[in-house]
Amino acid sequence: MSPAQQSAYSRLYDSFSYPFSETPLQREKDSENRDLIVEIGFGMGDATYKIAMENPDKDYLGIEVYKPGIGKVLDRIEENGITNLKVIEHDAVEVLKYMIRDDSLAGVHIFFPDPWPKKKHHKRRIIQPDFVALLKNKVKKNGYIYAVTDWENYAEHMLSVFENEKDLLNKYSGFAEPQQWRPFTKFERKGKEKSHEIFELVYIKN
Ligand SMILES: C[S@@+](CC[C@H](N)C(=O)[O-])C[C@H]1O[C@@H](n2cnc3c(N)ncnc32)[C@H](O)[C@@H]1O
Repeated sequence: MSPAQQSAYSRLYDSFSYPFSETPLQREKDSENRDLIVEIGFGMGDATYKIAMENPDKDYLGIEVYKPGIGKVLDRIEENGITNLKVIEHDAVEVLKYMIRDDSLAGVHIFFPDPWPKKKHHKRRIIQPDFVALLKNKVKKNGYIYAVTDWENYAEHMLSVFENEKDLLNKYSGFAEPQQWRPFTKFERKGKEKSHEIFELVYIKN
Protein backbone atom coordinates (compact mmCIF):
# COMPACT_ATOMS: atom_id res chain seq x y z
CA MET A 1 0.00 0.00 0.00
CA SER A 2 1.11 3.59 -0.58
CA PRO A 3 1.59 5.70 2.58
CA ALA A 4 -1.79 7.40 1.94
CA GLN A 5 -3.56 4.03 1.49
CA GLN A 6 -1.86 2.62 4.59
CA SER A 7 -2.84 5.65 6.65
CA ALA A 8 -6.46 5.54 5.43
CA TYR A 9 -6.60 1.79 6.08
CA SER A 10 -5.39 2.06 9.67
CA ARG A 11 -7.51 5.11 10.56
CA LEU A 12 -10.76 4.34 8.73
CA TYR A 13 -11.12 0.59 8.28
CA ASP A 14 -13.09 0.00 11.48
CA SER A 15 -15.55 2.83 10.77
CA PHE A 16 -16.26 2.02 7.12
CA SER A 17 -16.12 -1.77 6.94
CA TYR A 18 -18.01 -4.77 8.18
CA PRO A 19 -15.92 -7.67 9.48
CA PHE A 20 -16.44 -10.94 7.63
CA SER A 21 -18.63 -13.28 9.59
CA GLU A 22 -20.56 -16.45 8.90
CA THR A 23 -23.75 -14.71 10.01
CA PRO A 24 -26.09 -12.34 8.16
CA LEU A 25 -25.00 -8.73 7.92
CA GLN A 26 -26.62 -6.40 10.47
CA ARG A 27 -26.88 -2.97 8.90
CA GLU A 28 -27.34 0.13 11.02
CA LYS A 29 -30.95 0.75 12.10
CA ASP A 30 -31.39 3.83 9.87
CA SER A 31 -30.13 1.86 6.83
CA GLU A 32 -32.44 -1.10 7.09
CA ASN A 33 -35.03 0.22 4.62
CA ARG A 34 -32.61 1.69 2.11
CA ASP A 35 -31.68 -0.11 -1.11
CA LEU A 36 -28.39 -1.99 -0.83
CA ILE A 37 -26.18 -2.44 -3.90
CA VAL A 38 -23.12 -4.68 -3.79
CA GLU A 39 -20.02 -4.24 -5.96
CA ILE A 40 -17.82 -7.30 -6.38
CA GLY A 41 -14.09 -6.78 -6.95
CA PHE A 42 -14.01 -2.97 -6.98
CA GLY A 43 -10.22 -2.77 -7.48
CA MET A 44 -9.14 0.81 -6.71
CA GLY A 45 -12.80 1.81 -6.29
CA ASP A 46 -12.81 4.43 -9.07
CA ALA A 47 -16.43 3.73 -9.94
CA THR A 48 -17.48 2.68 -6.43
CA TYR A 49 -17.12 5.96 -4.60
CA LYS A 50 -18.47 8.06 -7.49
CA ILE A 51 -21.62 5.95 -7.79
CA ALA A 52 -22.14 6.18 -4.01
CA MET A 53 -21.77 9.96 -4.12
CA GLU A 54 -24.21 10.30 -7.00
CA ASN A 55 -26.87 8.18 -5.24
CA PRO A 56 -27.02 9.36 -1.63
CA ASP A 57 -30.43 7.73 -1.15
CA LYS A 58 -28.94 4.22 -1.60
CA ASP A 59 -26.36 2.21 0.34
CA TYR A 60 -23.36 0.56 -1.29
CA LEU A 61 -21.21 -2.33 -0.13
CA GLY A 62 -17.91 -3.00 -1.91
CA ILE A 63 -16.30 -6.42 -1.59
CA GLU A 64 -12.60 -6.74 -2.42
CA VAL A 65 -9.56 -8.77 -1.38
CA TYR A 66 -6.91 -6.32 -2.62
CA LYS A 67 -5.67 -4.26 0.35
CA PRO A 68 -4.33 -1.23 -1.60
CA GLY A 69 -7.78 -0.93 -3.21
CA ILE A 70 -9.43 -1.03 0.21
CA GLY A 71 -7.02 1.67 1.44
CA LYS A 72 -7.70 3.78 -1.64
CA VAL A 73 -11.47 3.65 -1.37
CA LEU A 74 -11.31 4.44 2.37
CA ASP A 75 -9.24 7.49 1.48
CA ARG A 76 -11.92 8.52 -1.07
CA ILE A 77 -14.66 8.01 1.52
CA GLU A 78 -12.93 10.38 3.93
CA GLU A 79 -11.93 12.92 1.27
CA ASN A 80 -15.51 13.20 0.01
CA GLY A 81 -17.39 12.77 3.30
CA ILE A 82 -19.21 9.70 1.94
CA THR A 83 -21.62 8.08 4.40
CA ASN A 84 -23.40 5.48 2.22
CA LEU A 85 -20.47 3.21 1.27
CA LYS A 86 -18.86 0.43 3.30
CA VAL A 87 -16.43 -2.32 2.40
CA ILE A 88 -15.81 -5.94 3.31
CA GLU A 89 -12.29 -7.29 2.83
CA HIS A 90 -12.98 -10.90 2.00
CA ASP A 91 -13.78 -13.34 -0.79
CA ALA A 92 -17.03 -12.19 -2.42
CA VAL A 93 -18.42 -15.72 -2.79
CA GLU A 94 -18.23 -16.32 0.96
CA VAL A 95 -19.61 -12.87 1.76
CA LEU A 96 -22.60 -13.48 -0.48
CA LYS A 97 -23.18 -16.97 0.88
CA TYR A 98 -22.97 -16.13 4.56
CA MET A 99 -23.64 -12.43 5.03
CA ILE A 100 -26.20 -11.47 2.40
CA ARG A 101 -29.77 -12.61 2.89
CA ASP A 102 -31.70 -14.08 -0.02
CA ASP A 103 -33.91 -11.60 -1.94
CA SER A 104 -32.27 -8.62 -0.24
CA LEU A 105 -30.12 -6.76 -2.79
CA ALA A 106 -31.40 -4.00 -5.06
CA GLY A 107 -28.44 -4.51 -7.38
CA VAL A 108 -25.05 -6.09 -8.02
CA HIS A 109 -22.16 -4.51 -9.96
CA ILE A 110 -19.27 -6.54 -11.39
CA PHE A 111 -16.98 -4.30 -13.41
CA PHE A 112 -14.10 -5.90 -15.32
CA PRO A 113 -13.74 -9.12 -13.31
CA ASP A 114 -10.36 -10.86 -13.66
CA PRO A 115 -10.39 -12.13 -17.26
CA TRP A 116 -8.09 -15.15 -16.89
CA PRO A 117 -7.40 -14.95 -20.64
CA LYS A 118 -5.57 -18.29 -21.03
CA LYS A 119 -7.94 -21.08 -21.97
CA LYS A 120 -6.56 -23.40 -19.29
CA HIS A 121 -7.48 -20.72 -16.68
CA HIS A 122 -11.03 -20.03 -17.87
CA LYS A 123 -12.40 -22.18 -15.05
CA ARG A 124 -11.07 -19.57 -12.58
CA ARG A 125 -13.37 -16.88 -13.99
CA ILE A 126 -15.83 -15.76 -11.33
CA ILE A 127 -18.87 -15.66 -13.63
CA GLN A 128 -19.92 -19.31 -13.72
CA PRO A 129 -23.37 -20.93 -13.44
CA ASP A 130 -23.14 -21.57 -9.66
CA PHE A 131 -22.01 -18.02 -8.99
CA VAL A 132 -24.77 -16.49 -11.11
CA ALA A 133 -27.33 -18.73 -9.34
CA LEU A 134 -25.97 -17.42 -6.02
CA LEU A 135 -26.26 -13.79 -7.22
CA LYS A 136 -29.78 -14.42 -8.45
CA ASN A 137 -30.79 -15.75 -5.02
CA LYS A 138 -29.41 -12.66 -3.27
CA VAL A 139 -31.07 -10.08 -5.53
CA LYS A 140 -34.66 -9.12 -4.76
CA LYS A 141 -37.50 -9.13 -7.28
CA ASN A 142 -36.90 -6.43 -9.93
CA GLY A 143 -33.34 -5.99 -8.67
CA TYR A 144 -30.53 -5.99 -11.24
CA ILE A 145 -27.16 -7.55 -11.99
CA TYR A 146 -24.84 -5.39 -14.07
CA ALA A 147 -21.60 -6.93 -15.40
CA VAL A 148 -19.00 -5.42 -17.72
CA THR A 149 -15.90 -6.86 -19.39
CA ASP A 150 -13.49 -5.95 -22.18
CA TRP A 151 -12.65 -9.60 -23.00
CA GLU A 152 -14.85 -10.75 -25.85
CA ASN A 153 -14.81 -14.48 -25.15
CA TYR A 154 -15.50 -13.84 -21.45
CA ALA A 155 -18.39 -11.60 -22.53
CA GLU A 156 -19.81 -14.41 -24.70
CA HIS A 157 -19.42 -16.82 -21.79
CA MET A 158 -21.17 -14.38 -19.42
CA LEU A 159 -24.03 -13.93 -21.86
CA SER A 160 -24.57 -17.67 -22.13
CA VAL A 161 -24.39 -18.20 -18.35
CA PHE A 162 -26.85 -15.35 -17.63
CA GLU A 163 -29.21 -16.43 -20.41
CA ASN A 164 -29.34 -19.93 -18.88
CA GLU A 165 -30.41 -18.65 -15.45
CA LYS A 166 -34.15 -18.89 -15.77
CA ASP A 167 -35.14 -16.29 -13.16
CA LEU A 168 -33.06 -13.56 -14.78
CA LEU A 169 -34.41 -11.48 -17.65
CA ASN A 170 -32.10 -9.70 -20.07
CA LYS A 171 -33.01 -5.99 -20.00
CA TYR A 172 -31.71 -5.76 -23.57
CA SER A 173 -31.43 -8.20 -26.39
CA GLY A 174 -27.92 -9.62 -26.15
CA PHE A 175 -25.36 -7.12 -24.82
CA ALA A 176 -26.62 -3.95 -23.18
CA GLU A 177 -26.17 -0.43 -24.47
CA PRO A 178 -23.41 1.39 -22.55
CA GLN A 179 -24.83 2.57 -19.22
CA GLN A 180 -23.92 6.25 -19.29
CA TRP A 181 -24.00 6.56 -15.51
CA ARG A 182 -21.16 4.05 -14.96
CA PRO A 183 -17.90 5.86 -14.18
CA PHE A 184 -14.69 4.85 -15.95
CA THR A 185 -12.37 2.45 -14.08
CA LYS A 186 -8.68 1.59 -14.16
CA PHE A 187 -9.32 -1.73 -15.88
CA GLU A 188 -11.58 -0.12 -18.45
CA ARG A 189 -8.68 2.19 -19.33
CA LYS A 190 -6.34 -0.82 -19.61
CA GLY A 191 -8.82 -2.51 -21.95
CA LYS A 192 -9.17 0.59 -24.10
CA GLU A 193 -5.36 0.83 -24.35
CA LYS A 194 -5.46 -2.65 -25.89
CA SER A 195 -8.24 -1.46 -28.27
CA HIS A 196 -10.68 -3.83 -26.62
CA GLU A 197 -14.39 -3.35 -27.09
CA ILE A 198 -16.43 -2.98 -23.88
CA PHE A 199 -19.29 -5.47 -23.36
CA GLU A 200 -22.08 -4.75 -20.86
CA LEU A 201 -24.82 -7.02 -19.54
CA VAL A 202 -27.85 -6.01 -17.49
CA TYR A 203 -30.23 -8.63 -16.06
CA ILE A 204 -33.33 -8.14 -13.95
CA LYS A 205 -34.58 -10.68 -11.42
CA ASN A 206 -38.03 -11.99 -12.18
C1 LIG B 1 -9.49 -6.85 -13.00
S1 LIG B 1 -9.79 -6.16 -11.45
C2 LIG B 1 -11.08 -4.95 -11.77
C3 LIG B 1 -11.16 -3.91 -10.71
C4 LIG B 1 -12.21 -2.81 -10.92
N1 LIG B 1 -13.56 -3.35 -10.90
C5 LIG B 1 -11.97 -2.03 -12.19
O1 LIG B 1 -12.83 -2.07 -13.10
O2 LIG B 1 -10.92 -1.35 -12.28
C6 LIG B 1 -10.70 -7.45 -10.60
C7 LIG B 1 -10.75 -7.26 -9.10
O3 LIG B 1 -11.56 -8.29 -8.53
C8 LIG B 1 -10.99 -8.67 -7.28
N2 LIG B 1 -11.45 -10.02 -6.97
C9 LIG B 1 -11.22 -11.14 -7.69
N3 LIG B 1 -11.81 -12.21 -7.13
C10 LIG B 1 -12.45 -11.74 -6.02
C11 LIG B 1 -13.23 -12.36 -5.02
N4 LIG B 1 -13.50 -13.69 -5.05
N5 LIG B 1 -13.72 -11.59 -4.03
C12 LIG B 1 -13.46 -10.26 -3.99
N6 LIG B 1 -12.73 -9.62 -4.92
C13 LIG B 1 -12.23 -10.35 -5.92
C14 LIG B 1 -9.50 -8.57 -7.51
O4 LIG B 1 -8.78 -8.43 -6.30
C15 LIG B 1 -9.39 -7.35 -8.42
O5 LIG B 1 -9.18 -6.17 -7.68
